[in-house]
Amino acid sequence: MENFLLVGNGAREHAIAETVCRGGNARLYAFMSVNNPGIAHLAKGSGGKYGIGDIHSTSQVVSFAKQYEITLAFPSPDAVLAAGVTDSLLAQGITCAAPTLEAARLEWDKAYCRDMLRDYKVPGAPKFGIFDSGSDASRFIDSLGGSVAVKPAGLTGGKGVKVTGLQLKDGSEAKEYAKELLGTKHGGLKSIIIEEKLEGEEFSLQAFSDGSKIYGMPAVQDHKRAYEGDVGPNTGGMGSYSGTSHLLPFTKQKHYDDALKIMQKTVEAFYKKTGKRFVGILYGGFMLTSDGPKLLEYNARFGDPEAMNVLALLKDDLAEVLSQMAKGKIAKAPSFEKKATVCKYLVPEGYPGKALINQPLQINTQAITSFGARIYYAAVYEEDGIIYTQSSRSIAVVGTADTIADAERISEGACGSVIGKVWHRKDIGTDALVKRRMDHVRSLGIL
Ligand code: AMP
Ligand code: GLY
Repeated sequence: MENFLLVGNGAREHAIAETVCRGGNARLYAFMSVNNPGIAHLAKGSGGKYGIGDIHSTSQVVSFAKQYEITLAFPSPDAVLAAGVTDSLLAQGITCAAPTLEAARLEWDKAYCRDMLRDYKVPGAPKFGIFDSGSDASRFIDSLGGSVAVKPAGLTGGKGVKVTGLQLKDGSEAKEYAKELLGTKHGGLKSIIIEEKLEGEEFSLQAFSDGSKIYGMPAVQDHKRAYEGDVGPNTGGMGSYSGTSHLLPFTKQKHYDDALKIMQKTVEAFYKKTGKRFVGILYGGFMLTSDGPKLLEYNARFGDPEAMNVLALLKDDLAEVLSQMAKGKIAKAPSFEKKATVCKYLVPEGYPGKALINQPLQINTQAITSFGARIYYAAVYEEDGIIYTQSSRSIAVVGTADTIADAERISEGACGSVIGKVWHRKDIGTDALVKRRMDHVRSLGIL
C-alpha cells in the first residue's frame, strides 16, 4: 500500500486522485492551495489525509510529505514543477513521479526547449528564432512574410502566445507585440520566440516517460477558445474529446506514431544534453499539418482537461504505473479502454472575463450518475454542503461511450444536471464540430 501524495487542487488533480483511489493500492494524501471538496472526500475515504497551504512552497510540501511518511509523490501543476518541488522531495529520499526543475524546463523555458530540439536534430519543429532585441525580431517576422506566432519564453498560463490572423491582425501587430513582450519578463525569462505560423488541426499527446522509453496515451483534442464555433478569447480549455481507436477522427495511425517518435527522440535528446532522465508525464501539443505533425510546445505534466479524457479509460492501477515510472522502468505498456470520451467544462457566467463568483450550484449527483457521467471539481468551494463558484472554471463533466457522439450526449445531458450561474460550450464533441475538423484537414490535403 503506497502513501501517495498528490500536490494540486484542480479538476485534473481530482481526476488523478479518483484514478489512484480506483486502483485500490494507495492511501491518498493531498496537499492543496484551496480545498477541492472532491479530492478531500477521496483522501478521507482512502484512509489518507489532506492539508491546505502553499503548494509552491517546497518546505511546506516536504514537511507535509514527511509528516505522513509518503512513499510516492506526484506534484502535478506546471508552476509547482517550476518551483522545484520534485527536487526537494527527492532530496529527502521520497520517490517522485514528476520531472525535476531541470527536466520541467522543457515546459517553463520555450527557448531552451526549441534550442535543444534543434541541437539534437529532433524532427517536427516549425521555423523559429529566439530574440532578445526588437529589431532582430522584426527582421525575422518580415522574413516569414509576417505570418507568425509570437511567444514569451516563460510560463504564462497558456495566455501569452499570440498568432497573426487570430489575436494579432498582421505582421506589424506581431512586431509591436514582440516589442511589448521584450519590455516585460514572463515567468522570469526575457527572451521571446518567433515561429512560422502553422496551419492545421491541433491535438494533445500525453505519455508516461520512465526516462528511457515513453508510453503514449489516447490522443485528445482540446478547445481553448471561449465560445462555440472556436471564437472569442483563449481560456485554460473549455473541453476536449478523444476517439474510440485512441486516434482522433482527423488523424491517421501514422500521424500518432510520428508524434510519439518526436517525443521519444526528445527524452533521448534530454539525456544526451544533460546526462539526466526525463521522468514524468510528457505532453506534446501538436499541429497536424500537410507536412505531418509539428510540435507547438511541451508540457511536463498532464493536460487540463486532457487528463480527464485519458484517465477515465486507464485500465491499469495509476499508482503502480507512476511508481514504476518514478523508479525508472515501466514494466509493460499501460492500456486504455477502447472507448471515446467527451469532457465539457462548466464555467461561471462572465468567464473568461469577470467571472461571477460565490454563486451556489445545485448538483444533481444522482442524475449525473444515471447518465453514466463523471464530474470533477475545479475552482469551487464547499460551505455547509453547498458548492460555490470561484473566478475560474468550475466543474468538468466527462462522458465515456463507444462513439464520440454518444459520449457527447452523456456529457451534455449531465451538464444539464448542474443548475446555477454557469455555462458551457455545447458544440464540443458534436458531429457538426467533428465534421468541421474533418473538412479543415481535407481542405489542407491531409486526409
Ligand atoms: P503554445 O503555448 O506554444 O502551445 O501556444 C498556444 C497556442 O497558440 C497553441 O495551442 C496554438 O493554438 C497557437 N500556436 C502556437 N504556436 C503556433 C504556431 N507556430 N503556429 C500556429 N499556431 C500556433
Ligand atoms: N489543455 C492545455 C494545457 O493543459 O496546457
